[in-house]
Amino acid sequence: MPIKISFVGKGGTGKTTLSALLVNYFIDQKQTPILVVDADPNFNLNELLGVEIETTLSEIREELLKGDTPEFMSRYDYVEMRVNEALIETKDFDLLVMGYPETSGCYCPVHAFLSNSLEKLMNNYPYVIIDNEAGMEHISRLNLREMEHLIIVSDANPRGILTGGRIAELVRALKIQVSNLWLIVNQSPEIISEDLKSYTEEITKKYNIKLLGFLPEDPNILNYELKHIPVFEWQTLLKTKAYELFNLLWE
Ligand SMILES: Nc1ncnc2c1ncn2[C@@H]1O[C@H](COP(=O)(O)OP(=O)(O)O)[C@@H](O)[C@H]1O
Ligand SMILES: [Mg+2]
Repeated sequence: MPIKISFVGKGGTGKTTLSALLVNYFIDQKQTPILVVDADPNFNLNELLGVEIETTLSEIREELLKGDTPEFMSRYDYVEMRVNEALIETKDFDLLVMGYPETSGCYCPVHAFLSNSLEKLMNNYPYVIIDNEAGMEHISRLNLREMEHLIIVSDANPRGILTGGRIAELVRALKIQVSNLWLIVNQSPEIISEDLKSYTEEITKKYNIKLLGFLPEDPNILNYELKHIPVFEWQTLLKTKAYELFNLLWE
């Protein structure tokens, strides 16, 4: 069974940035191959990983819903083949982009075929990293029912942290089996006030989340993004600090 790690949180908190940094971390630790799943309908993780997208899983779903599958193959094999074609392969990691969630709301065979192929695919990797959207639509609909680490990312302010706590409630309501539910408070000021610390502790206690730690606001990130520099080439404080937190996941 692969070790699955997923990032959740409201938009703009840093899920995609941290997902990319975690991919980089695993590669540096020589813990590969990694399956990276971009489960945000507004996908952009590929940019930080320096790869181009060709097909998303939702495009495959549309194609299957139209029903044009070749006659010489079983539907099951065909779905598996298409999912494999959608996979962007690199030396150390492969990226799969989900695209938008199913809009028709039907739990039809197509859905079952896709979940099945995705689960089968995941089982080929020791590590799976999933970058999410806030709604967790994909997590609840696809076979992501069990996870080793679910990391909630929040902004460094009271409302953001409270939102993090409520996401923990949602995770539990969705009955996702999570071995470790963490909180990272991202884009924190250089000096974290005692008030912010004690508020964070209060919320993590109330919602039964483990505080992984605080990460700083890093002014270099904007420049890297503007220049389209993949995360692997970043040499900056956020990477060092994120790696320190990722080390704690295994302690
Ligand atoms: N620690 C940080 N310091 C500076 N900028 C950050 C930091 N974390 C994220 N950002 C920036 O904030 C924006 C949103 O981050 P992103 O990872 O895309 O969030 P999400 O995936 O949660 O929507 C991006 O422009 C990103 O570069
Ligand atoms: Mg994102």
